[in-house]
Amino acid sequence: MSMKSTLSVIGCGYLGATHAACMSSLGFTVIGVDTDPVKVAMLSRGELPFYEPGLDTLLAQEIRTGRLTFTTDFSAIADADIHFICVGTPQSKDGLAADLTYVKSAVTAVAPHLKEGALVVGKSTVPVGTAQSLREELAQLAPQADLAWNPEFLREGFAVEDTLTPNRLVVGVANDRAEQILKDVYAPILALGTPWIRADLPTAELVKVAANSFLATKISFINAMAEVCEAAGGDVTVLAKAIGYDPRIGSRFLQAGIGFGGGCLPKDIRAFMARAEELGAKQALEFLREIDAINLRARQRVIDVVRSDLSEDLTQYTIAVLGATFKPDSDDVRDSPALDIAVQLHAAGATVVVHDPKGIEPARKRFPTLTFAESVSDCVRGADLILHLTEWKEYRDLDPLVIGKLVKNKMIIDGRNALDRELWRSAGWKFHALGRSD
Ligand code: UGA
Repeated sequence: MSMKSTLSVIGCGYLGATHAACMSSLGFTVIGVDTDPVKVAMLSRGELPFYEPGLDTLLAQEIRTGRLTFTTDFSAIADADIHFICVGTPQSKDGLAADLTYVKSAVTAVAPHLKEGALVVGKSTVPVGTAQSLREELAQLAPQADLAWNPEFLREGFAVEDTLTPNRLVVGVANDRAEQILKDVYAPILALGTPWIRADLPTAELVKVAANSFLATKISFINAMAEVCEAAGGDVTVLAKAIGYDPRIGSRFLQAGIGFGGGCLPKDIRAFMARAEELGAKQALEFLREIDAINLRARQRVIDVVRSDLSEDLTQYTIAVLGATFKPDSDDVRDSPALDIAVQLHAAGATVVVHDPKGIEPARKRFPTLTFAESVSDCVRGADLILHLTEWKEYRDLDPLVIGKLVKNKMIIDGRNALDRELWRSAGWKFHALGRSD
């Protein structure tokens, strides 16, 4: 297969829009398909429906080349050789398992349009066993085509970089032909020396959830250490630094604080537990229940500190919340620890004012009863307490002397261990952080 291959990308959310623009930038003709006409219209104009650094310019640039188009019409994919399924697999409404509705309907929708020898490549995160059953279904619906799985490891905030220079490529395939097609499509990335891992379908699916489970475990591990540090009079930031120098442990993902959120880690560990139970391997993943519990406890611990700093009864207090997104450099508020804490404090009767550099609109959509401020100054003015809950650079750069003139009380809780404690203290602030007892 030459660089002239035509690709389709089914599902143009975070993963799909990124994949489509990046593959176009590698020279492929790419047809993005999504059932949402508003999203398709925006993408077609070269406008990104969400915030992701660098992707906005890449998308606009690729639209201008004419190689990248978006449509709601599945029949537009008939000329494509390879079809990437990038739809969401959210947590189901009635349990821990993943909702596979969108993945299943994507495969059913592409099937009638597949040409001879076409390869359908799943990128969505799915419970192990899904690929095999979709492959069997496809053999019925479109025997001229094949199906492979190619999990995606991109991080929000680094989506373009992680797609074009990933630290590995993993493909789950049932035969050599499927592997070769994927090797050809990823040739420019492989040429950079990117490790290539061929696996069977179940292993490829498992690699993804295992990776996210490991990352979640690392975060909850350090947050458990934070709890012990608080109880014992220690400092988790020093502890993390010290253990991180051991290369077997490594210093990344040891940032203690209010824990992990977003559209991936929380739902992936839950879906993994649910799937293991179905497979009769429930005990093997029991520990993930504890990882989830430690993570949710971190949110509660901040609320406990707020109550001990202010009062059990919060109704008389104004709390400024800095950060609404689940992490910086994203406008994603799905399962955001920051927003969850803001909502809980609001429900407890406090006056809560939330600021975020990019996440106000999505946050307002979810929680219209919260109060939002367009600037940090408006957010903190008259506050009894500031909560720093998402570590945007803008917040790290704040001048505690300037902020100190706006608030009612110079009291701040750093929920991300990202602010310079000495700087704030020297400006007269009462400064608390999770996992640091003094
Ligand atoms: C995560 C994985 O890191 C990606 O590899 C994966 O592809 C993606 O999920 C996915 O499954 O699609 P992402 O959701 O963008 O990526 O976010 P992360 O960077 O993993 O951060 C997750 C959460 O952990 C954030 O809320 C962050 O604030 C928190 N975190 C991270 C910590 O609390 N401490 C840390 O040390 C690191």
